[in-house]
Amino acid sequence: MQRSKIAGIGYYVPKNVFTNEDLKKYMDTSDEWIQERTGIKERHYADRTGETTTTMGVEAAKIAIERAGITPQEIDFIIFATLSPDYYFPGCGVLLQRALKMKEIGALDVRNQCSGFLYALSVADQFIKTGMYKNILVVGSEKHSFGLDFSTRGRNISVIFGDGAGAVVLQPTNALASSGKEQGILSTHLHSDGESAEILAMYNPGTHANHWQPEPFATFDKAEIGQMFMSHAMIDYAQNFPNMDGPAVFKKAIIKMPEVVEEALLANGLTTANIDLLIPHQANLRIAQFVQRKLNLRDDQVYNNIQKYGNTTAASIPIALCEAWEEGKIKEGDVVCLTAFGSGFTWAGAIIRW
Ligand SMILES: CC(C)(COP(=O)(O)OP(=O)(O)OC[C@H]1O[C@@H](n2cnc3c(N)ncnc32)[C@H](O)[C@@H]1OP(=O)(O)O)[C@@H](O)C(=O)NCCC(=O)NCCS
Repeated sequence: MQRSKIAGIGYYVPKNVFTNEDLKKYMDTSDEWIQERTGIKERHYADRTGETTTTMGVEAAKIAIERAGITPQEIDFIIFATLSPDYYFPGCGVLLQRALKMKEIGALDVRNQCSGFLYALSVADQFIKTGMYKNILVVGSEKHSFGLDFSTRGRNISVIFGDGAGAVVLQPTNALASSGKEQGILSTHLHSDGESAEILAMYNPGTHANHWQPEPFATFDKAEIGQMFMSHAMIDYAQNFPNMDGPAVFKKAIIKMPEVVEEALLANGLTTANIDLLIPHQANLRIAQFVQRKLNLRDDQVYNNIQKYGNTTAASIPIALCEAWEEGKIKEGDVVCLTAFGSGFTWAGAIIRW
């Protein structure tokens, strides 16, 4: 059977490094609190005016395309995952198509937050397997620094997130690894549970005005047509920033991430002993450590880089995958397992034989 393989991979992080000490200039926090609860030492922030989610995605994509040995004009489909798009609409996919002067190919935007890259990878995998496309560009990119509350009010969220982008080019393959086993993406597994959608969410701007409203906005006069989508009150009540019940997210993530890894292993007749490298979504180092313990994996079987980049949401898995590959931690024939969990809730897993 035709499968898809990662033919090229790249990542880009902005030059500007923001340490935990730097954050103390804006909010009441400490390096000790952040490192102890999240493992994060520093993160990168995009240039305020010169860089966007799309421009970072473009930089990562250029590297992935070059490493795949093709040109941007040979890409026949784009999938762009982000929760921090340049515009509310249109999506970043078309902006990337324009920036890279690609042909008039399809461009799909995926909005699955921290699971966004794995959802995008899964969609791309299906298109390759059916023979529909031959060179699909999958990008995950985020410019969080533009939309966080850097006052003490928002400190539980703003210290966690960072900016960056990662990209892969998927191509069809029938190849076998030197072990004689089939190479490429072996399977992907997608899940959701919308019951707790508001636990990790950015409510505004949005069209929910007559349905769900957080306090104190619920009591606000909603009568005026044309003022629902974005209003001064939203800004006054800090409703334009993300909200998160951190402990609730933590509890669910440490159950669902190992669960989907087990599901993916089982689907391929593998066990945790077969994992050469697990790349968990870089949400929080403590979550990754819980996942590692639950799966009984050795330190050398798990890759983490959240210490340097923070949580870059849709970009975190491709950045970590690329960095691990560049460091020589992924070799031909290795079983690489990816797992993500995030807002929605959505979670996902994938197994690749490199
Ligand atoms: C966010 C998270 C680090 C908070 O850690 P926690 O141990 O759960 O902390 P709590 O939210 O219970 O807050 C504990 C205290 O620290 C304070 N605090 C929150 N953020 C702080 C910060 N940046 N600096 C210092 N103190 C902070 C709180 O105000 C609270 O103070 P209080 O006890 O006086 O009320 C943790 O819940 C987490 O990582 N959750 C998962 C989040 C995640 O991964 N999100 C991305 C999903 S993909």
